[in-house]
Amino acid sequence: MQEYKAGLLVIAPEDEGQQQNRRLQTILQQAIAPYETEVWRKAEAFTAIKQRRVLFVLNLGADGVNLEYQKLLRKIRTTADCLEGCVGAVLIDADSELYTKAVGRELVFAANQSGCVFPGKPLVEGTASLDNFLVQARNLQTDRMGAYHHAVEALLDRLMTFEQRLHRQPQILAVHASNRATSNTLTLWGKVKQHLEDSCRVQEISLQNGTVVDCNGCPYQTCRHFGETCSCFYGGVIVEEVYPAILDCDALVILCPNYNDAVSANLSAFINRLTALFSQVRFYEKAVFCLVVSGYSGGDIVAKQILGALNMNKTFLLPSRFALLATANDPFSINKIADIDQRAQAFAQNMLQQLRKEHA
Ligand SMILES: Cc1cc2nc3c(=O)[nH]c(=O)nc-3n(C[C@H](O)[C@H](O)[C@H](O)COP(=O)(O)O)c2cc1C
Repeated sequence: MQEYKAGLLVIAPEDEGQQQNRRLQTILQQAIAPYETEVWRKAEAFTAIKQRRVLFVLNLGADGVNLEYQKLLRKIRTTADCLEGCVGAVLIDADSELYTKAVGRELVFAANQSGCVFPGKPLVEGTASLDNFLVQARNLQTDRMGAYHHAVEALLDRLMTFEQRLHRQPQILAVHASNRATSNTLTLWGKVKQHLEDSCRVQEISLQNGTVVDCNGCPYQTCRHFGETCSCFYGGVIVEEVYPAILDCDALVILCPNYNDAVSANLSAFINRLTALFSQVRFYEKAVFCLVVSGYSGGDIVAKQILGALNMNKTFLLPSRFALLATANDPFSINKIADIDQRAQAFAQNMLQQLRKEHA
């Protein structure tokens, strides 16, 4: 079990060219008050840290640019393993309706590649209008600011109480929509899977050939109604096969070829169709991993799409180094990448470290 040092580390890069953000200062002060806290405001202060509970706080102003954050991002990307054994959460406030989610994904992806774990729903955003809190405010019978305070307090609670659950024999569910006869992504998965099968139960589900219809976008009450019986408006393979397998698994692995710098349509439909199940169940105890193969470039965009959808929105835990990215275009050319077997093995070993109780 991962141990964390006591207290909270707040990393809040302060760009002197920006106007002060009193809303963010107020909300942060109130949320961190119960915890013993250390605050870093300059990227220069950032060195490799281990086993800390870290809250990243970003003021993006009106233009979405925080130059001190850019320096921090460079340090995170260039200092190997600089967040090893840490758990993170992110609070972003802006004087704009844009940028908060995109910057949040970028930061989480970089920190995760450097070893940081993120619990489900690790990002709270305050857009300029706080209209993103209208639904929560209605549910909590408060105003937008009240809902914002509530969300940040809950974020701190998730961060400060986080413990990663390990399993004697992890149940792994791999979901794909690829053709076994040609797919680089499935070939890469084969290289990873062979190192898991001795100590995990591995199930695979194929969502090929239009078996999955995209989400109908039913009204919330209708979606909830179907969700109560672990069902959905459309039924089919998603309800009969995928929902039970998701409920059963400890880790979901999504096998994603890069299609137009995005998750392919079948996999995207699968993620959208989790909404009915999500109306009943939260996935905080389940981990999400992904394999992304691009013909040319852009694997990071696809990985950020996965973490945005499944970790930030749908509450799956993001284990350290959740994504394996590779570049290969022609069928089976993945086999020609010189170190691909070692990379696949290292990825499988990391999965085991993130999921499995040792000496079971
Ligand atoms: C419809 C389609 C769109 C694609 N778009 C991209 C792309 O935007 N960027 C890229 O790097 N590769 C792109 N590719 C190439 C695949 O990512 C590449 O073939 C890779 O090996 C993964 O696919 P596979 O697992 O099906 O073999 C695309 C392939 C297809 C069929």
